[in-house]
Formats: sequence, C-alpha cells, structure tokens
Amino acid sequence: MRKQGAVPGRIKVSDNRLMYGGDYYPEQWLDRPDLLRTDIERILEAKINTVTLGVFAWAKLEPREGEFTFDWLIKIMDNLWENGISVILATPSGARPHWLADKYPEVLRMTAKREHNLFGRRHNHCLTSPAYREKVRIINTELAKRCGSHPAVKMWHISNEYGGDCHCPLCQEAFRDWLRDRYGTIENLNDKWCTTFWSHTYDDFAQVESPSELGENSIMALELDWKRFTSDQTIDFMKDEIRALRDAGSDKPTTANLMYHFNGIDYFKLAKEIDIVSWDSYPVWGKHSDYEIARDNGFWHDVIKSLKRKPFLLLESCPGATNWQGVSKLKKPGVVEAAALQTIAHGGDGSLYFQMRQSRGAEEKFHGAVIDHYGGSDSRTFREVCKAGEMLEQIAAVAGSSIPAQAAVIYDWENRWAIQGSCGPRSDNMYHEECIEKSYYALRRQGLNVDVIDQSIPLDGYRFVAVPMQYLFHEGFAQKLRNYVADGGILVMTYWSGVVDENDRCFLGQTPYDMTDVLGLRREEIDGLYDWESNHICKIGAGEGITQPDPSDARILSGMRGEYECRNLCELVKPMGAETLMVYDSDFYAGRPALLKNVYGKGRVYYICADAEQAFYDDLYRGLTELAGVRGPLPGGVPEGVELTLREDGRDRYLFLQNYGEKPVEIDLPKGEILYGSPESLAPLSGIVIRMSKK
Ligand code: GAL
Repeated sequence: MRKQGAVPGRIKVSDNRLMYGGDYYPEQWLDRPDLLRTDIERILEAKINTVTLGVFAWAKLEPREGEFTFDWLIKIMDNLWENGISVILATPSGARPHWLADKYPEVLRMTAKREHNLFGRRHNHCLTSPAYREKVRIINTELAKRCGSHPAVKMWHISNEYGGDCHCPLCQEAFRDWLRDRYGTIENLNDKWCTTFWSHTYDDFAQVESPSELGENSIMALELDWKRFTSDQTIDFMKDEIRALRDAGSDKPTTANLMYHFNGIDYFKLAKEIDIVSWDSYPVWGKHSDYEIARDNGFWHDVIKSLKRKPFLLLESCPGATNWQGVSKLKKPGVVEAAALQTIAHGGDGSLYFQMRQSRGAEEKFHGAVIDHYGGSDSRTFREVCKAGEMLEQIAAVAGSSIPAQAAVIYDWENRWAIQGSCGPRSDNMYHEECIEKSYYALRRQGLNVDVIDQSIPLDGYRFVAVPMQYLFHEGFAQKLRNYVADGGILVMTYWSGVVDENDRCFLGQTPYDMTDVLGLRREEIDGLYDWESNHICKIGAGEGITQPDPSDARILSGMRGEYECRNLCELVKPMGAETLMVYDSDFYAGRPALLKNVYGKGRVYYICADAEQAFYDDLYRGLTELAGVRGPLPGGVPEGVELTLREDGRDRYLFLQNYGEKPVEIDLPKGEILYGSPESLAPLSGIVIRMSKK
C-alpha cells in the first residue's frame, strides 16, 4: 500500500474531460428523493460531470460517537455513477458534530485573548488537540474503508479551507516544542528574537506565550514564528488526515481547497503534501470594471498554478450572487462562462461551483447555486451554467496540458508575514501586494504566461525575474539571485528588498543584503509618503555630467513617458557603479536616482526605487522583456482589457484570448483550429481558444 506523500498524478478525470460541477449537499435533502432525482436531470443537462460530496456531513456520517451511517452516501454515489457523474469525496473535518465538542471540549478553539469558543460555526477546531486528531482519524478511516474504493470517487478533498489559529494550552505547549526544535536553547532564541529590547528576555521556553494584545506583541520574530508554527501545525494536521486515508488503503489523489489572498498558511509548503492544488474564487464582479476583476482573479489563478507549476482545479466559484459579500450582486450574462474559461486559460483542469443545490435555511440560503429554490431548468443562472458546460466540452482537449512560463514574479509567504508586522516605514499600508501585482500585470500585458513563485523555487528556466519588495531574505536567496544574474538573467528588484533576515532582524552593513555589488548601489533611506503626497520618476535631461544610456537602455527609455507618478514609498539609494536611468523630480531628493541599471556577469539588474504607477511598470517591462528575448504569441502584446494565456502539450499549443474590456476588439489571430469562440471580433466578455500545431 502506498503511504503518505503526493502521488505524481495526472488530474484529468478521463482523457477528454475537464471537471465541471460543484459542492453538493444531498444530506440536506434526504427526505426529498423527488428533488434528488430531478437534481440528476439538471446535472446532466448542464453537462456537469463531477460533484463534491461530504464536505460538512460528519453529523450524518457519525451521528453518535462510534456509530457510522454510510448507506445514504453510498446510495447517492451509486446513483451519480450510474449517470456517469464522478465524485470528489471530502473528509468532514471542516465542521464537527455537537457530541464531539460536548464530550471533548478541548477541540474548541481559544482566541488570542485566551477565551474558549462555544460550539458553533465551522473551521474553528484546535488542530493540536489529540482528541480532535483521533476523531478525525477514525472518521477518515471509516470513510476510506467504506466509500474510498467506490468507482465514482476520483479524488479526496481534505477538510475545507484550512485556516485560523488556536491559543489554547495544548497549542502553547506545541508551540514551545516547535521553538525548542528550531532554536535548541533559550539563549539562542533570545538572540534571534532580539529580546534585550525592552527587557523581554526569556529565562525558559516555558515562559513563551503566543502573541496577544493582552501580552507580548512587540517582538516581531515571535509573531513570525507563531505564523510559521500555525502554518506547520495545520499542514501537519492535514498530513494526519491523509495518512488515515492511506492507511485505510486508498491511493486516490488528494486536494485541499485554498483561498484567495489568504496568508495564514504557507501554501507553497502545503502544496508539497497534496497531489493536486485547488482553490475557491469569489471575485466581486460588478463592483469594479470586468478587466480589473479578471486581472486580479488571474493573478491568484497564477499563484495557485505556480504552487506546483502544474494544472490545478477551481473547486468553488459562485454561479449567482454571493451572499456573504456586503452586496449580493447578480452576475450579468456571460460572466459565469467567462470566469470558467479564465480558470482553464490559466491552467485549471476543472471549474466547479459552490453549490449545486441552494440550501433551504441557515447562513447560506441566499448564496447562488446551480439549482435554486425554484428548482426549474429555465432559471437564468441555470442557463448560464449550461452554456459554461458546453464551452468546457468544446475545449476539453486542453485537459492536462501545461502552462509554461519564462517570466516569474517572487511572492513569498514569510515575506508577506514579515512585511505585515514590520512596524514601518509605512504602517498604514505598505501596498506590498499591489507592488507584486504591478510587476505581474505588466508582464501579462505583454501576453506572457507568468509564474508567481516564492523564494524557494529554482530560477533556472526563467529569463526574466521580478523581485518586488522582498523585505525578508531567506538564507540562500541572495546567492540564488546572484547566480541567476551572473548566468545571464534579467532581474528587476524594487525598493524595500533584502532588509531583514528570517527572524526579522535588520541586516547590518550595506543593503539590499548581499546584493549591493550585483545591483551597483546601496540603500540609504526610505521615505514614507502620506496618502495625499506624490512624487514623480522622470527621464534625465541632457546636460553636463550625464552619461548616455547604452543602446539597449536607450531603446527601453525611448518606449517610456517623460514622467510617472509614484506614491507611498520612495527609497533613496547611493549608486556604487549602477547607472542612473531615471530620477525623482521633487522634494528634497529631486534629481536623485529612481531607476538604475547595473551589469553583473552575463546579466543585468534594474532597480526601481519607488512605488510607481502601473504605466511605469507596463512601459519598462515591455522594453525589458524584449531585451530578455521573452515574447508572447502576439507581436506588441495584448490590447488593454484583453487577457491572453497559452497552454501546451507534446503536440499542440492552445491560445486563449478573452476580452474583459467594454468594447469589441479586433485581433490578428494566429493560424490554427478554433476550438471555441468566433474569429470575427472579440465582444466584451467573450473569448476564443485556438489550437495551434507545434510542428
Ligand atoms: C467558501 C466555503 C464554502 C461556502 C462558500 C460560500 O469559502 O468553502 O463552504 O461557505 O464559501 O461562498
């Protein structure tokens, strides 16, 4: 029997199928077999081929401790399978039954204020609790034994949207053990955490408490380690869940549904422990322009894709209005299909919804669903779902194909945590995520596939790498960047990089750490700007003492405007060999460098000193990617409002174009077989998929 660990899986359900379906909760409708029958009709009509079962079904699977009832589930699975519908089977640990919390109160989470939760809601269990782990092990084992080998079951869905922390005594003890492992001695911990500051020196590991507003919250290294511990503890819990399935004899692939912009768990670490990465996407369509929404959603698709740099699944999305959002906005016609197409375009091998059938009561009764309370097949949402189903059948050939990228943007979990807690230089908002996205969007404007990777991922294979606001440098990261540039890579680094080590201790001496010779500069100061302030990055006029940029930089600069606005953070650097390409235009640092270039080994490095507007990145990266020889499939990039991605397999390349702008666009399309869409012109919200032979 195969034990713990990821199987190098293909994730296609069958050779010619993209997964389409959603979370289905038949346990809420066991007294309505008539509805369960019509549900199958709807599922088939919408060309749905997969449903997720069991996500919150623990109370129906084990109504009393040790008493299991799987018959209802098996019957539902039989029925689905007879109709050709596959199942993603969930372990039920996302929500626990009442008896469990009543008998084992340690499973209830404790807040940072050291208050124990009452029974209620979901996703709020102590992940250290031996009682909880044991009860989860038992139910997972029973589930795997009784249902895991059912032919309908294609995959395991482990728990649901893991997240959150618990501050109970069990977690405090586990945290202290984790710290003992990491630091060995309390003296070493004191040194790494800089506890001499304010006399917070620890005499013993036993004194360490998790961060709390009632206690210690001034040691940033403690905060960082608490986040690391919580992330590790969650992943460890998930591994226990998977171990139970494996020990019970199931070797079906596993997935866990991740969340948009969530930073509580290091997803790069988590992804190593599952076979297929998946996520849940709930964009606020209608709140901002379609293009802004799609760009942002595309970014997160690419983060998820980059976790394994393999096809992923979208496990949840909403076909109608999302009731937990402040305003439950209806999706205008075409959005459901466009969103499903975007998922596949970015490397999804399936697009699923929350939820198949709308619940009758409780918190999500107004959440959009494939089948609503009315239940007919003539509802607008259902028709939209059917259209998306047809589209997915038309492009099924792309299933399993890869999403190669020559450009990468660094986006690192521990760096996110460290920036959040850094206490300056702009505690109001550092705009770190926005800084990452600006690099990403600029590359996407060139029609390039982009990987969004953390500092641990090898850089060979990329020809262009952006390092935006990497405040925390993991050990070895600087060396990796040095090698990358020395070997001929084009690198962009921005302000506020290489400032602290893994314990949030400032590097002493010249910074960015271990990069000053590569960059040809050192950081001197950084200015935090008030919200209403701005500066400009502008070209340098001709004049005495101004060196002329080399021809490639001159070409890059010729494609740029005279000036660009910058806000929030402006860094002042001292050139030590780097060439100044653009300067600040105002404040006491007018005329000081704002964009610099240095040559190192066979490569080049560009350093951006300030939080510049998007157009600056768009224009600069157009020149830099050309310099790096990285080109998208359309000469001149993509028009504003259009998304372009490319997938490929051994034989073919698949070009995806989608128009999220307000007007139709005309694009000269490359030759190939049109799998989906019309070649005439791209109307707003429409898309086209072209298969191009590699021969
Ligand atoms: C997700 C969750 C689902 C459902 C959905 C509603 O975050 O995993 O169970 O609550 O939100 O949008």
